[in-house]
Amino acid sequence: MKRFVAANWKMNGSLAANEELLRALIELPNAAEQVICPPAVYLSQVSELLSGTDIAMGIQNVDWHESGAFTGEVSTMMAKDLGCRYVIVGHSERRTLFDEDDAACCEKARATQSAGLTPIFCIGESKAERDAGKALDVVKRQLVAGLDGVSLQDLVLAYEPVWAIGTGDTASPEQAGEVHDYIRRELENIDKSLAQTVRILYGGSVKADNAASLFAMENIDGALVGGASLNAKEFSAICCA
Ligand code: PGA
Repeated sequence: MKRFVAANWKMNGSLAANEELLRALIELPNAAEQVICPPAVYLSQVSELLSGTDIAMGIQNVDWHESGAFTGEVSTMMAKDLGCRYVIVGHSERRTLFDEDDAACCEKARATQSAGLTPIFCIGESKAERDAGKALDVVKRQLVAGLDGVSLQDLVLAYEPVWAIGTGDTASPEQAGEVHDYIRRELENIDKSLAQTVRILYGGSVKADNAASLFAMENIDGALVGGASLNAKEFSAICCA
């Protein structure tokens, strides 16, 4: 299977910067399944720039209601309408800065699949939780509570240790590999035949110079990339690692 590499632009970009970045990226080598997740207001622009390429698009967050009085929110059907195939769900910044708990993440993942889209479901422990020896327990809780009623059929997981996000402090391939192996075993407990089809991405300060060693681990199937996805050359190099 090809590696799967998703770009999480977070709250960065402008019409001009997006165009420059994507025009450059489209010309650069790529060996992965690429997904670009821009801020929601730029989905139309990005969809247009990506048309005719095999790069897919995703949204960084959705509301799980179908429609109605939810000022400022965007639904899964709206994301689909604009050409999204993926939805990032449960990113640690959503969990910590916007108080999204396991139940909310679960609602979003279910709504995403109901709309025919694929969640990129993020899990991962904080520094304090890792230091307390609780990393695997936290990941298990997030998986069990977050994936209740969610099919493994159309699902991408992203293991993103919170302490590695945006810090330059990447998990070592062994640290990440241990958790990815654990996640694969937990998925097998849920559904043995589908467990192998779920892509498990690593996220947290992935760069061109550490991607290959992470991708060498058996159960690391790709990456969710924040900061480095804003640089076309760097992102292309990760996609070719
Ligand atoms: P980072 O972000 O690559 O900048 O660490 C990853 C993420 O938040 O998905």
